[in-house]
Amino acid sequence: MLEIDGLRAGYGKIQVIWGVSLRVAAGETVAVIGANGAGKTTVLRSIAGLLRPEAGRIGFHGHDIGKLPAHAIARLGLALVPEERELFPWMSVYENLLLGGRLCAERERVEKNLERVYGLFPVLRARHRQTASVMSGGEQQMLAIGRALMSNPALLMLDEPSTGLSPRVVGSIFDVIGRLAEQGGTTLLVEQNVHLALDIAHRAYVLERGRITLEGAGHELMENPLIREAYLGVADA
Ligand SMILES: Nc1ncnc2c1ncn2[C@@H]1O[C@H](COP(=O)(O)OP(=O)(O)OP(=O)(O)O)[C@@H](O)[C@H]1O
Ligand SMILES: [Mg+2]
Repeated sequence: MLEIDGLRAGYGKIQVIWGVSLRVAAGETVAVIGANGAGKTTVLRSIAGLLRPEAGRIGFHGHDIGKLPAHAIARLGLALVPEERELFPWMSVYENLLLGGRLCAERERVEKNLERVYGLFPVLRARHRQTASVMSGGEQQMLAIGRALMSNPALLMLDEPSTGLSPRVVGSIFDVIGRLAEQGGTTLLVEQNVHLALDIAHRAYVLERGRITLEGAGHELMENPLIREAYLGVADA
């Protein structure tokens, strides 16, 4: 579904991504893990069209999306939940969700997607009139994911959904990511919480200073001594 070859990207003269290639197949949950500043967000921003790649190919459903503007990429079925969530703080939960559904042509679809989101995150139904800015951090993350799901995207990209949240809230968000996978959804997940990410991902890539240094099945990487030492804080004797 998503095929990236030789992606290079950066900011002005500063190159950050040095030839990244990765794949996400339909129905897969794929994780990208890496330290702070490795370039994880830069990869997601390049895919979503928020940053113009300097070189390489980004194929999505057979389209070359590397030069398309962000709104055109969103229309092709790709949704990004950014690290900062970027909710409309003064609007209600319901209004934020409706804005996520604005790409749907038919009202019926919006209703259907809304029911699905409320099913995944019952707290959003219970608080649908509440102003987004007064929701807790965890509820805001749920709303950000819910808003992205309102367009029924073919590929959902999550940038560090666990950041700043308590283990209990992180657990319920990861439960939902798991349920999306069970329902056949496709997710590209960027995470600092390597344990959680490798546990939920079918496959994962390790990004170090803008390059992919390791890839494999989630459970394989979990057993890899390099990963255990560098990312899981487990030194094998
Ligand atoms: N707008 C920008 N202008 C210049 N440099 C940037 C910009 N955004 C990011 N960078 C630099 O690019 C590099 C990669 O940043 P990026 O945000 O992609 O990393 P990350 O892996 O997502 O890190 P984190 O885990 O902290 O979110 C860093 O060195 C960062 O300083
Ligand atoms: Mg980041």
